[in-house]
Amino acid sequence: MCGIVAAVAARNIVPVLIEGLTKLEYRGYDSAGLALLNPTLTRLRSVGRVGELAVQAEGQVAHHGIAHTRWATHGVPSERNAHPHVSGGLAVVHNGIIENYAELKQELIAGGYAFSSDTDTEVIAHLIQHTLKSTPGLFEAVRLVAARLVGAYAIAVVQEWSDAIVVARHGAPLLLGLGQGENGGNYAASDASALLQVTRRMIYLEDGDVAELTRAAIRIVDAGGTALNVPGDRPVHESTLSADDVEMGDYQHYMQKEIFEQPQALAATLEMIGGAQTLSPNLFGVAAPEMLRGARSVLILACGTSYHAGLVARYWIEQLAGIACSVEIASEYRYRVSVPNPEQLVVAISQSGETADTLASVKHAKALGMGRTLAICNVPESAIVRECALRFLTRAGPEIGVASTKAFTTQLAALFLLAVTLAKQAGRLTPEQEGAHLKALRHLPVAVQKVLALEPEIRAWATQFADKQHALFLGRGHHYPIALEGALKLKEISYIHAEGYPAGELKHGPLALVDKDMPVISVAPNDALLEKLKSNLKEVAARGGELYVFADADSAVDQEAGVHVLRLPEHYGLLSPVLHVVPLQLLSYHTALVKGTDVDKPRNLAKSVTVE
Ligand code: F6R
Repeated sequence: MCGIVAAVAARNIVPVLIEGLTKLEYRGYDSAGLALLNPTLTRLRSVGRVGELAVQAEGQVAHHGIAHTRWATHGVPSERNAHPHVSGGLAVVHNGIIENYAELKQELIAGGYAFSSDTDTEVIAHLIQHTLKSTPGLFEAVRLVAARLVGAYAIAVVQEWSDAIVVARHGAPLLLGLGQGENGGNYAASDASALLQVTRRMIYLEDGDVAELTRAAIRIVDAGGTALNVPGDRPVHESTLSADDVEMGDYQHYMQKEIFEQPQALAATLEMIGGAQTLSPNLFGVAAPEMLRGARSVLILACGTSYHAGLVARYWIEQLAGIACSVEIASEYRYRVSVPNPEQLVVAISQSGETADTLASVKHAKALGMGRTLAICNVPESAIVRECALRFLTRAGPEIGVASTKAFTTQLAALFLLAVTLAKQAGRLTPEQEGAHLKALRHLPVAVQKVLALEPEIRAWATQFADKQHALFLGRGHHYPIALEGALKLKEISYIHAEGYPAGELKHGPLALVDKDMPVISVAPNDALLEKLKSNLKEVAARGGELYVFADADSAVDQEAGVHVLRLPEHYGLLSPVLHVVPLQLLSYHTALVKGTDVDKPRNLAKSVTVE
């Protein structure tokens, strides 16, 4: 949510800032801006996308600057609210929310500062300017101001005539890049993808760190004011991301690329079990054998698509391991009065590892005495991974499209491994059963590849959806969360209002909505609930509803007037949700294409929700 890039180097850093923002645009795309020091300040801002800022920046040369792509929190998307925000000769870019900005603003107004935006960020700029009156040096001033800010933030600050960039973080991601080769220099960004163009050597800042970057050096001070040894106290990580991982290649959209990458993403995630016939709990970390063995129940915390993965996992964990499992939306759990259970395993699921609500919910669970925490996450050094005692890293590769796809299916693979591990520890699996589950998992990439081959038929269906206002998605059992996920995908990228329901719930209310203008999409695998589901579908057909059914090759669901059926190549038992979500992703994607919406950057949304 919002992206920051900062650079100080002997080379012209303007193209570096623009390229970095382009890579970070998925984090927010309401406006973009940059501040260049030459040594006086030039600020450029645009309400549109980074491409428009790039046009404005043509011909600019600088060796020192900061840049930002915004997802609006305080103040509408407009040029006056676009970052950087300035006060006198200094400029600030900011990711996050300053919760005490109103009282700080009052104080600053009383002190004679005038505001030219509606943002909380401008408060930071004026506060640093004000602090500089009594404090020598930008670094020290930023440290003092950071101590006064309440909320989550990552900031980068530059000042006229200074040759340094000062950055600080608390609760929002920020990393440093150490320049390599003859161009050298030092850099900072919200995530590694922005800096791969110049370096692979990264330092992840901790909460409370304040750092100063010059062309030749960096220094870091921690939250307690202690000067750190670098790299001793903050190790240098060699990023293993390849530039290709964040390129679109031959695809039209990142979402399309990420849907089609799912076989490789699953294979990479499952690589760590290799050809093993039996699972070791160490897969989840060195402390896992003891922590998982002692777990009497499971609490899953997540948001959005990751929450849907958790809902599928509940069916698996209860069925296979016989352990009670509850799944909660992180933003609800963190604020409700719940009954803590120290023996419960807390599982946080997050693609980005930075989702503010999920992170806060883990901290909340820990504060309640629940120390058995496991992160299932796609980003190794993320805040949620670092917060949890145990971890399983999915290997989906960077997910750039705002609508999550490959992260979801790899989360499901990880959660299935967890369910099998818990089942084994509970003594509920014979070696043959365990081997069969592992075999099914290993075959998933091939099975998903076959489902992707249905794209032409799904594309044809999409043309029938594009003019609809609403849609219902139905599923039963462990495919009910897949119906929820299908509805979420459709609404977020095509803006068609969609709801997911357990099919048995239809007659308790939503059936009233069904008529010829309400398409009903049903996930109908050939499982024990198929006959029940078919009765539910009859109820829809009897009310004139148009049905679109994703069945299995052997599901006895017949195509007839008003009932369209597409068959997945094989029935996949417990892992069937991993297959059945794929056509729903494709359906949303192609519907959005027909409607001409911005598939990768749907309106009002951003990837990586680092604010509440
Ligand atoms: C939907 C989507 C979001 C995220 C949610 C949680 O397509 O991407 O609903 O799933 O914001 O994000 P993570 O998994 O990064 O915690």
